[in-house]
Amino acid sequence: EKGTYPHYMLKEIDEQPAVMRKIIQAYQNEQGDLTIDDDIIEALRAADRLYIIASGTSYHAGLVGKQLIEKMAEIPVEVHLGSEFAYNPPLLSERPLFIFISQSGETADSRAVLVKLKEWNYPSLTITNVPGSTLSREADYTLLLHAGPEIAVASTKAYTAQLAVLSIISYVVAQNKQIHHRFDLVQELGIVATAMEALCDAKEEFEKITIEFLATTRNCFFIGRGLDYFVCLEGALKLKEISYIQAEGFAGGELKHGTIALIEEGTPVIAIDTQRNVSGNIRGNVKEVAARGANTCLIAMEGNHNSEDRYVLPEVHEWLTPFISVLPLQLIAYYASLHRGCDIDKPRNLAKSVTVE
Ligand code: M6R
Repeated sequence: EKGTYPHYMLKEIDEQPAVMRKIIQAYQNEQGDLTIDDDIIEALRAADRLYIIASGTSYHAGLVGKQLIEKMAEIPVEVHLGSEFAYNPPLLSERPLFIFISQSGETADSRAVLVKLKEWNYPSLTITNVPGSTLSREADYTLLLHAGPEIAVASTKAYTAQLAVLSIISYVVAQNKQIHHRFDLVQELGIVATAMEALCDAKEEFEKITIEFLATTRNCFFIGRGLDYFVCLEGALKLKEISYIQAEGFAGGELKHGTIALIEEGTPVIAIDTQRNVSGNIRGNVKEVAARGANTCLIAMEGNHNSEDRYVLPEVHEWLTPFISVLPLQLIAYYASLHRGCDIDKPRNLAKSVTVE
């Protein structure tokens, strides 16, 4: 139920800190350590390469998941769109494991891939919010998101829940392989939850940013590098699907390879800067578009920021920044849709779960 909220989307955005805490609990053992089933750890360790299959927002979570798994657990990962993989599969490694990421567990494009895999006898794991869903029943293993029902068509809390479960898998496998990282994921996810709360409390600020940058525009660009790039893809999808503003997310370094031609006087460009190693580069990209008249909005992480920034994100572990940098983009999409009088929870032409190929 929506309760006092005007829209499910806003309620679901607000639920994200609580979902983080719920996931931590759900994956903790009696000693308080993060854990997943031994069978799943074994399947992950037996694989020489993981293939993540997903669509839309879940695909964007997969792109971040690849980085988490490769960095923490040191297993190579490929991320594929279900609709592409099903008809043009890549050359597979010798011992692949397939990971399906799907909020609903019903996405037909992913299911088409699963059906093929089963013919080939490859193992599969589904990460889903819906126990008993098709992709969960048909895969060998399931990990649940514990995000509670997501009603709004625009996915929000499922995305951050997917990131959390992917980080837990990465961390648990790393420990099992005796790869020691100098942080405690339970603690880091707790810091994430608190940071999310601070952002949810700053809603008015994001409404102001939306009015300032997107009031009358027909298009909007999101730029970032590294993990921020993947969050930009998600921010652009969120904005276009509910506000119908044409939006594109891209890697800052790619601007000069084409997209910069689209920048005119007043074009909104939202830039994310959470990654220390590329902070100077993305700031350089912001200057390039500003020099061509773009209306630039820099969202930076505490520690990286300086006086020209429009919003400063509370600091979290450098690998977990997408968990929080996505919140401003979810809220900006929400307010853009609200101010344009769009149907926020049920955007035109879209369904919550896409059960046809
Ligand atoms: O249920 P799934 O996670 O498999 O759904 C995948 C996409 O259809 C979904 O993420 C879609 O892109 C959302 N509307 C995005 O907000």
